[in-house]
This record gives sequence, structure tokens and C-alpha cells, in this order.
Amino acid sequence: MKASGNRLTREQARELLVKLDAAMAGSSGRSSREALVKFLNSSVPTYSWVGVYLVEGKDLVLDAWAGPAATEHTRIPIGKGVCGFAAKAGRTEIVSDVSKDPRYLQCFLSTKSEIVVPISNQGSVIGEIDVDGDQLDAFSSLDREFLEAVARKASNVWS
Ligand code: SME
Repeated sequence: MKASGNRLTREQARELLVKLDAAMAGSSGRSSREALVKFLNSSVPTYSWVGVYLVEGKDLVLDAWAGPAATEHTRIPIGKGVCGFAAKAGRTEIVSDVSKDPRYLQCFLSTKSEIVVPISNQGSVIGEIDVDGDQLDAFSSLDREFLEAVARKASNVWS
């Protein structure tokens, strides 16, 4: 099943960006990342699992997540998987069908599509937001714009 019916709309994205500040207000460090992933996972129906990875040396380390289950991929070498690729390239990756992408590292059998958005500070990638979708083609260029705006806010708070 495709996700086009319940994908994020431009109006929702605008509202969520306003609400995000309130969701993260008053917290810092990991608790603000916990607040962010919970907020995204509970606000957008297509965001089935949401995680924040932080760069630690040559790896990405899972710092906060929200969704139905934990992932075994809590440490991913930069360059490996869709996550590692996005961190190395410093740009957003959208995979509309994970079964067709040889880079994909499987976490959940239910995942059909994925978007990974780097969080950068002064030109360096410091982390990323990883969202798994249970439907094919769950993420559009609007999700990219929205999550890139979220990543800019996150970078201001965390770096
Ligand atoms: N699928 C990711 C690994 C992380 S899990 O989705 C939580 C990847 O290919 O890098």
C-alpha cells in the first residue's frame, strides 16, 4: 500500500514547526532529543519509527528513538547503510522502497520506506534524524523540507 493518502501536508508541516519549539522548550541534551522523536512519531501518522543518531568518531550512535520497537542498529559506521550514507554525503536520503536499495540495513520487517536527514553545524554533520515508514513511498519532498527545517532547529539547540 502506498502512503499518498496520509502523507504530511504543507499546512500540517507549518503547524508542526511552530509546535516543535514548545515540545522541546525547557529541555536540553538527550531529553530534548527524546522530546523531538516522541513529538515527530506521535504527530505524523507516516512516521512509524523516529530516531536521532549522533556522530561519535567514525560512527553514528543512536541517542533517542520513538516507535513500537527498539532497533539492533544502535551504532552504524559512517558510510554504512542509508544512515551512514546520508551522514557521509551530508545530504538527505529518501528511499521509497527499502527492498530495492542495497545500502539498506534492516531494523524492522514492517519498514517499507525511509528518510534520513543530516543535522549539521558549521558545515559538519553532527547527527541525523532517521524516519522509517510502514508504507511504500511514505516520504515526499515536503517531508524533506519539513525534516530539514526540524534538523536546523535541532542543530541550534544541540550544538
Ligand atoms: N535502516 C537504516 C538503519 C537504521 S534503522 O532504520 C533504525 C539504514 O539503512 O542505515
